[in-house]
Amino acid sequence: MKRIVILGSTGSIGASTLDVVSKFPDRFQVVGLAAGSNDQILEDQIRTFHPKVVALSCSDAAKRLRTRLETSLVEVLEGEPGLCDVVRFPDCDLVISAIVGGAGLKPTLSAIQAGRQVALANKEPMVMAGQLMQQEAQKHGVTIFPIDSEHSAIFQSMEGHRKVDIRRVVLTASGGPFWEWPAADLEHVTQEQALKHPNWKMGAKITIDSATLMNKGLEVIEAKWLFDLPAAQLDVVIHRESIIHSLVEYCDGSVISQLGHPDMRTPISYAMNYPERVPLHPPLLDLGKIGKLTFFPPDTEKFPCLQLAYDALAGGNGLPATLNAANEVAVHAFLHKQIAFLDIPKVIQETMSAYQTAPLSSIEEVLEVDQWARRTAEKMMKTCVTPI
Ligand SMILES: NC(=O)c1ccc[n+]([C@@H]2O[C@H](COP(=O)([O-])OP(=O)(O)OC[C@H]3O[C@@H](n4cnc5c(N)ncnc54)[C@H](OP(=O)(O)O)[C@@H]3O)[C@@H](O)[C@H]2O)c1
Repeated sequence: MKRIVILGSTGSIGASTLDVVSKFPDRFQVVGLAAGSNDQILEDQIRTFHPKVVALSCSDAAKRLRTRLETSLVEVLEGEPGLCDVVRFPDCDLVISAIVGGAGLKPTLSAIQAGRQVALANKEPMVMAGQLMQQEAQKHGVTIFPIDSEHSAIFQSMEGHRKVDIRRVVLTASGGPFWEWPAADLEHVTQEQALKHPNWKMGAKITIDSATLMNKGLEVIEAKWLFDLPAAQLDVVIHRESIIHSLVEYCDGSVISQLGHPDMRTPISYAMNYPERVPLHPPLLDLGKIGKLTFFPPDTEKFPCLQLAYDALAGGNGLPATLNAANEVAVHAFLHKQIAFLDIPKVIQETMSAYQTAPLSSIEEVLEVDQWARRTAEKMMKTCVTPI
């Protein structure tokens, strides 16, 4: 029986994880859950999965939850310290890291420092502080298992092979809802259009990141730190159907890949059950019926966010954390109808240009850059975008 804590249990990955748990009650026990402010969904999850401890980052939501629950049912923690404490709960074997954004950095790091194995969906902390997180993981004997479907595919395609034989890794990207749109039409993209992903049902932030291709850029940086590969060995191809989840090309010309229907329960289950596989009973992958799979090179002129991520990786130091923070601010503003879709890369680029590079040697320094970049991006939104 594996005892698990889920950070971000009320979100899309959190819900899929709990779905896997409920299919295998003899394999998993939920001991802890954590989320931001959604006390209603968290209460339903508590009543179904009976964790011993939960946390909400929003103190008001935590207070509401306490007043509704019988005191003996579960311990309710609050704020960032509460999120960091949930993962330190002594009877825990695996932490599913699925908070969205940089808010997941400290709780995920806390899990690593407590020696918990980590299954990582929350890519932003890896983008901000991948090197430091991997150093901490090594120090505490922790393996970080990827949940992102692309990274799970790479992980699976590397199994049983020598890393030294890898020629390159190719991350696939769906291209999002606007791949076929003429560049000029992107000016008028609405929030509703951007929130309609062609293949995946996900949280709002990652759905917008998929539409701008920033999600792929964040994933390239995540891949660098998860697999310790240089940017020159990390390529991207647009693959509209999201059936091939990524590929690893070896020096003898062999290309190994993992395919499957786009369903996050597959990579989540693989990370949770590693090295075993359990029957999830998805529909058969009928390639004859699918007929054809399509591929295109990425268009970084129409979707500059992908190039910005490669630039951040090349710049190093605090530039990836700057890219991430500016993107979070810009996506939030777009979702709240404060800036236009095409302003997202503008805000990120201007913020990155203002960054003065300096080596980062601690998480505190990363968080300082993060805060600076958020303030700078807010300023850029007042100066470099056309008011809506
Ligand atoms: N969805 C996918 O298919 C998918 C695939 C690959 C990778 N990922 C990655 O997985 C992460 C989660 O994505 P998602 O789609 O599941 O997002 P989501 O549906 O928006 O869920 C986000 C989760 O994070 C919690 N949260 C937000 N802000 C928080 C804060 N300040 N403190 C604590 N918890 C907070 C939310 O709690 P409340 O509900 O209380 O706000 C919710 O539980 C992202 O990093 C994303 O890039 C997602």
